Amino acid sequence: MTGRLQGKVTFVTGGASGLGAAIARRFVGEGASVLIADVDAAAGEALATELGGAARFVALDVRFEDQWLATFATCERIDVLVNNAGITTLGSIEDVTLEQFRHEFDIDVVGVFLGSKHVLPAMTTHGGSIINMSSLCGVRAQADLIAYNAAKAAVTHMTKSCALHFAQKGYGIRCNSIHPGAIHTDMIDKVMAQSDDPQALYAGFVATHPIGRLGKPEEVAAMAVYLASDESAFTTGAEFRVDGGSSI
Ligand SMILES: NC(=O)c1ccc[n+]([C@@H]2O[C@H](COP(=O)([O-])OP(=O)(O)OC[C@H]3O[C@@H](n4cnc5c(N)ncnc54)[C@H](O)[C@@H]3O)[C@@H](O)[C@H]2O)c1
Repeated sequence: MTGRLQGKVTFVTGGASGLGAAIARRFVGEGASVLIADVDAAAGEALATELGGAARFVALDVRFEDQWLATFATCERIDVLVNNAGITTLGSIEDVTLEQFRHEFDIDVVGVFLGSKHVLPAMTTHGGSIINMSSLCGVRAQADLIAYNAAKAAVTHMTKSCALHFAQKGYGIRCNSIHPGAIHTDMIDKVMAQSDDPQALYAGFVATHPIGRLGKPEEVAAMAVYLASDESAFTTGAEFRVDGGSSI
């Protein structure tokens, strides 16, 4: 099936690499136009060039409200916002510093809050879909991911609060979260780089997925297409797991 997002104007944060780039590629393949928002201008511009006229890069650091306001001031209409930008800080309650914890929250939680809040003027007139990239770590805790667990749990619940508000207001805006298991992207490489024993960490990731491998970015992008499309019109406030059976 193609053209499932025909004519939709979409905005993907963290769209320059990993899951965001896979989502941007699929969205364009399904007929959408895509604004790729990221702090990595080189990778974002390169992807926009690869995707041709349907894609444009915008420099955005999701931590900063003034940047969101300036970016959305140039957007008359947005049908789909994917709050995907995120980082992962490895460490337990004993390891992680307050500064690291706050940094994780600034990107993974404050970024989602600001995007969901300030997109509304460009979305409420016609309705739309907000897709928040949480994680399996947002519903199941691990000892060595205190900051990431807390941040992604906040995203999971913020999604439901927004979904209820939008439904009560009759905005026609849906808000859902995606919960990937370990998907092989740059983020996994960055997490392994923080570990004393990266190979053991990787083997541990594989072992927690009954399917017996890590996921692929395209497998998460497929879920994003469903949630962005009108096929999911009766779906809001829900958690969508793409985790190779990890949560069974
Ligand atoms: N890869 C996984 O296994 C996995 C699993 C579950 C959830 N997730 C979530 O999926 C999302 C994407 O992860 P990924 O694996 O593609 O990571 P990635 O590191 O490959 O890509 C993240 C992107 O976000 C951008 N970014 C970082 N900070 C930013 C900021 N302040 N403002 C704007 N952009 C910023 C980066 O430049 C990068 O392009 C994250 O929210 C992550 O927590 C990933």
